[in-house]
Amino acid sequence: MEKLLINGGTPLKGEVTISGAKNAVIGIIPATLLVEGKCIIENVPAIDDVTVIMDILTQLGASVKLINKSTVEIDCTNVNSCRATYDMVKKMRASYYLMGALLGRFNKAIVSMPGGCNFGSRPVDQHLKGFRQMGVEVKECVNDYYDLSADQLVGAQIYFDIVSVGATINVMLAAVLADGITIIENPAKEPHIVDVANFLNSMGANIKGAGTDIIKIKGVEKLHGGTYSVIPDYVEAGTYMLMAAATNGEVMVNNIIPKHMESVTSKIREVGGTVVEYDDAIFVKGAKKLTPARVKTLPYPGFPTDLQPLATTLLSISSGTSFVTEAVWDSRFQYVAELNRFGSKITVNGDTATIEGVEKLHAAKAKCTDLRGGAAMVMAALMADGTSEIYNLSHVDRGYERFEEKLKNLGAKIKRVQDFSNEIEEAN
Ligand code: EPZ
Repeated sequence: MEKLLINGGTPLKGEVTISGAKNAVIGIIPATLLVEGKCIIENVPAIDDVTVIMDILTQLGASVKLINKSTVEIDCTNVNSCRATYDMVKKMRASYYLMGALLGRFNKAIVSMPGGCNFGSRPVDQHLKGFRQMGVEVKECVNDYYDLSADQLVGAQIYFDIVSVGATINVMLAAVLADGITIIENPAKEPHIVDVANFLNSMGANIKGAGTDIIKIKGVEKLHGGTYSVIPDYVEAGTYMLMAAATNGEVMVNNIIPKHMESVTSKIREVGGTVVEYDDAIFVKGAKKLTPARVKTLPYPGFPTDLQPLATTLLSISSGTSFVTEAVWDSRFQYVAELNRFGSKITVNGDTATIEGVEKLHAAKAKCTDLRGGAAMVMAALMADGTSEIYNLSHVDRGYERFEEKLKNLGAKIKRVQDFSNEIEEAN
């Protein structure tokens, strides 16, 4: 086991460069199953979720080569299995994209139900509804396997009852090689939806409207290989922006698309921080005292649920009472009990956290409960005076590339150590 030692209380200062988007690349890598030929994917973040999805493709028979630290070459020509077992998918929620990708490739997919962050029930009914409308027979087998098959996938008009990132990407994957036109109404509009569509289009697909209220996919004969670069990760960018504001720091966040950050930018300004936008960078400066605020998570372009734990942590030191409402997931406040170890005063009632701002957080020992909850623990430790210890790092390793290194470059006193004693070491 490893832990992070963080000696907090110092403002973050300097520049950080944002990596490729996790939630885009873990849709793009399975999408290569639909392509005949080699795909060169650039700006791939070195995170555990990417390792997991590349391993799954390799086990299915793909050739997956790391060309350099952020470029991967994938050739799925020799894939001949449409079965993803529990052992393959258990580490990653987004392995549900194998359903759409394998269906698109073979008209058949046998996929076990995945692992990933646990925030209550994570249904896939909208994914299955879309597949069914495209002519897929869905058998829900014992041990949580879905057995999906069709003689031929056919285009359909699909209305999602719930805005779902996963269902939108999954139906796009199933539809690009289907017979006819698929129309998705009420799709998710997150930047990674647009990025997966752009990747597929650059390989010969015909998808229009990704990022708008209606996506239209005209099935094509086949996709060809090519080179594609993944967009920057707006959740990683938001993480550093909120950390800069919370530590009263001054941070230039480079290699981002400022438009993707609008909900975060406006919230930081609302609580008293300064945000300056450049073409592909954003500068954030904190404030001595932050004002309280209300935050409600919503599908894009609303405030991202994936930054909710960091927004709550930021507001824990505001000068009054704040409210954070989680409107995307049923249960995404497990991290609050851990956060309160740092002296924050947060109570959760249903979908809303009430945050009584405190003067300062103090050092604590706490564990990551999930990926973004884990980032919130790191943020709390950076805000707190004294040395904190953060455990269960596998969660943050799933989604943040070179987290400690990037934070160290911003002046954080942070180090990862083996956890074989209970002593608190100085993290200098
Ligand atoms: C994606 O999850 C992201 N993961 C999540 O980020 C993110 O929190 C979420 O979208 C919302 O933005 C990936 O992209 C890999 P959804 P996904 O389907 O696709 C309900 C992170 O921290 N729903 O948009 O699984 C569902 O229960 C991760 O990086 C149904 O009811 O999310 C939830 O309440 C964690 N039926 C809401 O919709 C369905 O069939 C949104 O889920 C599908 C979803």
